[in-house]
Amino acid sequence: MKHVSLTRFLLEEQRAGRINADLRLLIEVVARACKSISIAVGKGALGGVLGDAGTGNVQGEAQKKLDVLSNEILMEANAWGGHLAGLASEEMEHAQPIPDVYPRGNYLLLFDPLDGSSNIDVNVSVGTIFSVLRCPEGVTAPGDEHFLQPGSAQVAAGYTVYGPSTVLVLTLGHGTHAFTLDREVGSFMLTRRDIAIPEETKEFAINMSNQRHWEPPMQAYVADLLAGKEGPRGKDFNMRWVASMVADVHRILTRGGIFIYPWDRKDPSKPGRLRLMYEANPMAFIVEQAGGAATTGRQRILDVQPTGLHQRVPVFLGSKREVETASRYHRDHDAAQG
Ligand code: F6P
Repeated sequence: MKHVSLTRFLLEEQRAGRINADLRLLIEVVARACKSISIAVGKGALGGVLGDAGTGNVQGEAQKKLDVLSNEILMEANAWGGHLAGLASEEMEHAQPIPDVYPRGNYLLLFDPLDGSSNIDVNVSVGTIFSVLRCPEGVTAPGDEHFLQPGSAQVAAGYTVYGPSTVLVLTLGHGTHAFTLDREVGSFMLTRRDIAIPEETKEFAINMSNQRHWEPPMQAYVADLLAGKEGPRGKDFNMRWVASMVADVHRILTRGGIFIYPWDRKDPSKPGRLRLMYEANPMAFIVEQAGGAATTGRQRILDVQPTGLHQRVPVFLGSKREVETASRYHRDHDAAQG
């Protein structure tokens, strides 16, 4: 079977008037950077890139050598690309405008260069997540405040999962599509157009070790899942947890499911574990464009008005009916509290 390349797919989207040339080329640059990261990840111990970098990121988390390398690959590729006004990443405290010496464009790029850090050294899937926004008009040197747009303002979002095969999943606001990297040819090829997440599921992804720290509606929802056929849900559920959000979301795009990282009491000062701008928002856009849903348990993620570049948020995403059910437990609980 002959597959369409990412390049051809993007050209067709441009011809159909759904994207302009700048956005097309920006996606090409990100995809090229992901190919380089895929090569580095694939070399493993032979590349000398496993292990800690000996530094911490802005959130005080230990950085892996591959975190740092992936960030550099994405920064360098995009600084020269000519389609961006600025970029921001998990690994940088503040957004960076594209320096004057480089050509500039009108888009803002946010990324998590290598998500799932705990899996890097153990040869389990990790990934890159990215989100594209428009730079507000008249702004030539965008700062953090210009990135603080709700997820509904995204013009593109995607992730690349580095697993047994490398797959780029992309939305430009007209469906969600997957491209598999043909390693011999060096091109991403369209392997799934218009992905549709099944509305119902019997599979959930949660870090169960945090159970005792959850709030009451979350406890009640999961207790009902675990009660299986004999409980109020009347069916048995299975659990899967890769601990790389990219891989867990990829499974959901493949066969349905619900992924949850709720607020918990472990560190009440943190409103959740995952970051809104470069984890939750792009994944919510991708999932909604595939017919799924994404909420904080109380609000649609894409409607959250951001207040900080590295802000955290609770995440419930995946099969539409299941996300609605989980969100209902939270709403009913809040209503009962008055
Ligand atoms: O950056 C967040 C992340 O690595 C996600 O990819 C993943 O879902 C989560 O953290 C894993 O967290 P935990 O350590 O609780 O399993």
